[in-house]
Amino acid sequence: MSHRSTVILGTGSYAPERVLTNAELAKMVDTSDEWIFTRSGIRERRIAAENEAASDMGVQAAQRALADAGLKASEIDLVVVATLTPDMPMPATACFIQHKLGVPPATACFDVSAACSGFLYALDTACAMVGSGRYHRALVIGTEKLSSIVDWKDRTTCVLFGDGAGAVVIGASNEPGQGLVGTKLGAFGESANLLWIPGGGSVAPTTAASLAAGDQFLKMKGREVFKFAVRGMEEAARDILEQHQLTADHISLVVPHQANLRIIESIAQYLALPLDRFFVNVERYGNTSAASIPIALDEARRAGRIKPGDLTLLVAFGAGLTFGSALVRW
Ligand SMILES: CC(C)(COP(=O)(O)OP(=O)(O)OC[C@H]1O[C@@H](n2cnc3c(N)ncnc32)[C@H](O)[C@@H]1OP(=O)(O)O)[C@@H](O)C(=O)NCCC(=O)NCCS
Repeated sequence: MSHRSTVILGTGSYAPERVLTNAELAKMVDTSDEWIFTRSGIRERRIAAENEAASDMGVQAAQRALADAGLKASEIDLVVVATLTPDMPMPATACFIQHKLGVPPATACFDVSAACSGFLYALDTACAMVGSGRYHRALVIGTEKLSSIVDWKDRTTCVLFGDGAGAVVIGASNEPGQGLVGTKLGAFGESANLLWIPGGGSVAPTTAASLAAGDQFLKMKGREVFKFAVRGMEEAARDILEQHQLTADHISLVVPHQANLRIIESIAQYLALPLDRFFVNVERYGNTSAASIPIALDEARRAGRIKPGDLTLLVAFGAGLTFGSALVRW
């Protein structure tokens, strides 16, 4: 099947106003700024307002991406949202965003579930659909209100996560080699129990007892996830470079999932790239899951760190356990 090139026409991001610092967290659980910063590189994170849902943040990010692309919501014919904190279990958050943003009725809208790798899964899906010629302009949005699924009494997880949204607008191009050059997605389902929300699904529907036990909250085996993250991201980066006969030297900027500075540092070491070839903002946002790469990508572009002709590597890992990488030529 013949495929058109797909390009990123615009980027946008949104961070809620409320900043939650490590010092404030130290008053909520038994932790310290020093512990959090040395283990994760995080100084602060944003927390959405009570009445601010994942769709509201996604709309803000999408509006900025549309403005950047010089397009109107009425010109979008596909909305793909990556999130693990949807507005509701049903329907898709993409449908709420469609309506709030003014994307035309009858547009294709759906969510993708791949946790922190979700944005790359959504990007690949949307680019394949636009590349096929059956869709023309897509919004790909990563949006998360992780503050709503974190157990604020569990110091091993609550210090790591934050809220926010990022978005890109995808369009077609007749220039070969432009835009999304390639992707590599994968998962290791046998390790699903290292990072999950055990309650509230069809395995264990919510009951008074499950709520009392806290099964609705995110649970993580941090040390094991750390090892997978390093290995998964290294392999995802190496495989995609090999597949396209490239080396790390061809990459002008790596935009990794922002979970932990130490994970990013170990990828840098593995690729033998200096850390300044990585875009890092984890100190300000913590881990915003599916929103992390599109927020970082938008901030990198707006900071002038991505120029026409540059080759960017996006790389992620997350619950599933999933991983993904993407090469983008600007
Ligand atoms: C979570 C993470 C920061 C923990 O760092 P670590 O060096 O592995 O620390 P450990 O889990 O071994 O815990 C060390 C000690 O610190 C304690 N600790 C855990 N959280 C703490 C906190 N917030 N403040 C203070 N102490 C804490 C632990 O209880 C443990 O104490 P113990 O030795 O008495 O049992 C790290 O494992 C990590 O980043 N993992 C990956 C997580 C991730 O990225 N998840 C998202 C995937 S998308």
